[in-house]
Amino acid sequence: MTMSPPSAPPAGRTDVVDLYRKHIGAGRAVMGRVMGGMAEVRSEGVWIHADDGRRFLDFGGYGVFILGHRHPAVVEAVHRQIDTHPLASRVFLEPVAARAAQALAAHTPPGLDYVHFVNSGAEATEAALKLARAHGRTSLITTRGGFHGKTLGALSVTANPTYQTPFQPLLPDVTQVGYDDPADLEQALSARRDRACVVVEPVQGEGGVRIPRPGYLRQVRALCRTYGALMVVDEIQTGMGRLGTWWGVDAEQVSPDILLAGKGLSGGVVPIAAMAATEEAYAPFSRDPYLHTSTFGASPIACAAALAAVRTMEDEDTVARAAALGSRILAAVRAVCAPHEGALVREVRGRGLLIGIEFAEERAVGETLLELIARGVLVNHSLNSTRVLRLTPPAVVDDAALDLFRTTLAEALTSTAGRMAG
Ligand SMILES: Cc1ncc(COP(=O)(O)O)c(C=O)c1O
Repeated sequence: MTMSPPSAPPAGRTDVVDLYRKHIGAGRAVMGRVMGGMAEVRSEGVWIHADDGRRFLDFGGYGVFILGHRHPAVVEAVHRQIDTHPLASRVFLEPVAARAAQALAAHTPPGLDYVHFVNSGAEATEAALKLARAHGRTSLITTRGGFHGKTLGALSVTANPTYQTPFQPLLPDVTQVGYDDPADLEQALSARRDRACVVVEPVQGEGGVRIPRPGYLRQVRALCRTYGALMVVDEIQTGMGRLGTWWGVDAEQVSPDILLAGKGLSGGVVPIAAMAATEEAYAPFSRDPYLHTSTFGASPIACAAALAAVRTMEDEDTVARAAALGSRILAAVRAVCAPHEGALVREVRGRGLLIGIEFAEERAVGETLLELIARGVLVNHSLNSTRVLRLTPPAVVDDAALDLFRTTLAEALTSTAGRMAG
């Protein structure tokens, strides 16, 4: 297949900032400049390449790239799908969606056999909230610090006034309870018998890598049963091997009524997310296939990526690799942070390949992030926790990349400490 060249030359570096300023948003353009002004144009494995010729070790990516960038198996599956049938008529049944649902359901907790594919994490949350309503579970309970997306329904359970306030009123009857606080949850549930839907993350990612005490999810499961509530576990960030298990709930052998997946399900190639549910929870969607639909939901091209992602994780034992690599990276981060603990760094915590560095001051997060970028390493801040720098490295980090990360983090922290003192 040949393609005609674009009529104008590709946008150069300054063009991109300018185009963002004129057509995407001034704020995003300013952010781009603060981050160094370069644009990202290529990626593979653990690397992102910029238009100024530099490459960056990607320990961020908001948790998407558990398989790294452009994993060959996922890219090949997507290419094949483009060459055959990328988008469906939606009139007939479509085999790739069916096989992707089967592949995902083979790994979801027992009983979660039904899968509804969507295009983003927030849409997965929306689907769960609508399903809960269809069961009369209209009273939503979320956890403080929880993040579940920014569309209007999802935002109602994303506990952050910065994102919520400009869009009030949101969904009615939403209660926030303390994360890792079963007593608080029980109090809320007891006042809402048979009316509640609880939405919870196994580890709060955007909440600053908050890891609950062992047994918390089991307690949530038991309380939901006692008070007739629907239990929705948001594994959009924690699932697909991120925590060193397929799902965060696996660590406690908990089966929710609904589980949300996203990010890594894309294989790092085509956006897709999913809501998996038990037969009972899914019944309203099973009965009426037009009750909740979206033109691009379960598209063959995205489902090809999801199917390849799951198969690749099986073939490469990604979950076990994430667990082993996560322990090594956490140990390395702890060692590098140790000289700064008490002053610059308050705590390092993590599970699998989700690691947080909590700083004593908010300003240190931005400083360290920029110090790392300047030295060629990408990480993320946490949307719901301003003092926590978040690392979500891929499961394909090799020894050389880990060494590079270790020395770069040490340099960045020393430099940040100097600036903070100055
Ligand atoms: C736990 C969790 N839920 C939901 C979302 C929303 O996903 P998306 O950004 O794909 O809409 C995110 C995104 O960071 C998330 O971490």
